[in-house]
Amino acid sequence: MTKYFARQQNSEVNRRIACDIELYGADIIHSELFRQGYLQKHHTNTTVAEHTLNVTAAALRMCYRLEKMGMKLDLRAVTVGALCHDLGIIGRYEKFSGSRETLRLHPLASVRVADTLVPDIDHKTEDIIRCHMWPLNGWMPSSAEGYIITLADKYGSVRELLYHPGLPLLKRETVGMVMTAMIAI
Ligand SMILES: [Fe+2]
Ligand SMILES: [Fe+2]
Repeated sequence: MTKYFARQQNSEVNRRIACDIELYGADIIHSELFRQGYLQKHHTNTTVAEHTLNVTAAALRMCYRLEKMGMKLDLRAVTVGALCHDLGIIGRYEKFSGSRETLRLHPLASVRVADTLVPDIDHKTEDIIRCHMWPLNGWMPSSAEGYIITLADKYGSVRELLYHPGLPLLKRETVGMVMTAMIAI
């Protein structure tokens, strides 16, 4: 374990993120499908599961800051939406005919997965998941939480593409890797 990794595990904000993930997303992170998410690569150097944790952590961090500024946000919708937003991409090579179809249709597949993992999911959270690719596809978010997820998804993706332990570009582990150790999947 690197010093950076150990420091991240002890950071107060990461402890809060891990608590919120357990509080709102236990049914998702302890599911068999989420475990399968560790077996499928995503953005070259990471996996689907790590990516969803990166996006969840980035989105929750934004929420904590916005709440300090007086904004009231639905942390359950943000956590569930972020954890599920790309789970529909698991098995992409069997489900979709190519990259274009994957880009267009995986948000709808993720909504179907979320409906199974979280039976009492609300319409707002389904909308967050369906619209997370905006503006790359046509569905525009209808809530502040939805825009937070679209932003966190882009940020997380760029951060993952920069990570490579063998290259000097960005060797530091992503928060998704830290979270994996903290939430004991
Ligand atoms: Fe996506
Ligand atoms: Fe994503």
